[in-house]
Amino acid sequence: MGLMTSEFSSVASTERKLAFLGTGSMNGAVLRGILSSGHNPQAITATVRSANREESLRTETGVNVLVGEQTPEANRLAVQDAEIVFLGVKPVGIQDLCDEIRDSLAPHAVVVSVAAAITIAMMAGHLNPGQPIVRSMPNTPLMVGAGAVGLSAGETVSEAALAEIVGLLSGSGVVHVVPESQQNAVSAISGSGPAYAFYLVEAMANAGVELGLDPKLSMDLARATIAGAGKMLSDPNADPVAMRKAVTSPHGTTERAIATFDAEELPKIMAKATAAAAARAAQISAELA
Ligand SMILES: NC(=O)c1ccc[n+]([C@@H]2O[C@H](COP(=O)([O-])OP(=O)(O)OC[C@H]3O[C@@H](n4cnc5c(N)ncnc54)[C@H](OP(=O)(O)O)[C@@H]3O)[C@@H](O)[C@H]2O)c1
Repeated sequence: MGLMTSEFSSVASTERKLAFLGTGSMNGAVLRGILSSGHNPQAITATVRSANREESLRTETGVNVLVGEQTPEANRLAVQDAEIVFLGVKPVGIQDLCDEIRDSLAPHAVVVSVAAAITIAMMAGHLNPGQPIVRSMPNTPLMVGAGAVGLSAGETVSEAALAEIVGLLSGSGVVHVVPESQQNAVSAISGSGPAYAFYLVEAMANAGVELGLDPKLSMDLARATIAGAGKMLSDPNADPVAMRKAVTSPHGTTERAIATFDAEELPKIMAKATAAAAARAAQISAELA
């Protein structure tokens, strides 16, 4: 954060002009989180590509929506007044999107990407020199105010701008500023992590069926259990080790299950799986660089 470009205008942060380009699952989750913290929807313009997404997004969120199919310059129009621009297209589309908006961005507008594997340097190569860039790795629980986000700031992002972006996202989850070199690890833990929890629910539900439970009942029990455990963990002081021990009576039933996880080396499986996810992120970066 050495070089500083000009600062944000002095409006209240809830009135800050924002643009969301490519408002699908992830950018939609970020948008909804920011709105739930009280941001003025009229200060926000979102773009989508196909017209069938427009109506529901507009009526549900109250933001201005531009449709690429109908208005080819939608992304350029959306960023014109924006001071923070969230890029939410697939990783393969980020650099083209940067090329597209490059000359419509205010020099001080901060470009925040939610894309996995796209580095700050890759974006900088397709934006004007000095454009402030933030790389983020959010996750979908942002939608319900329980997300986790890792942020890394490029050199020209001012402290004030970064603080405001952290503040915008903090309303919908925990936000950590991390060195960019850790982003693939963040992606492997919290970006993909919700899928691991959902997968665990599937596995528990299937195991319940094998033990003789009705499939619907088993799924309901597994889902409610992981959701309940997640709610208990949402206390920032919650200690998962202590919580696990509290459920694990000596010589009891849970102890047998945990001993089986240990014997089958579940921690090793988790380490292998997350290493594979991080390696895939590095591979995608190399492919798209
Ligand atoms: N999903 C996750 O859990 C997750 C977690 C962390 C990070 N991410 C990142 O989030 C990004 C988006 O993933 P996603 O799962 O949210 O995908 P998605 O739901 O398909 O969202 C992408 C959106 O961008 C729109 N779009 C595509 N090209 C566009 C363009 N040129 N201009 C305007 N809109 C355009 C698409 O519209 P159409 O549908 O009409 O084509 C779609 O609405 C990815 O880069 C991914 O790495 C995702």
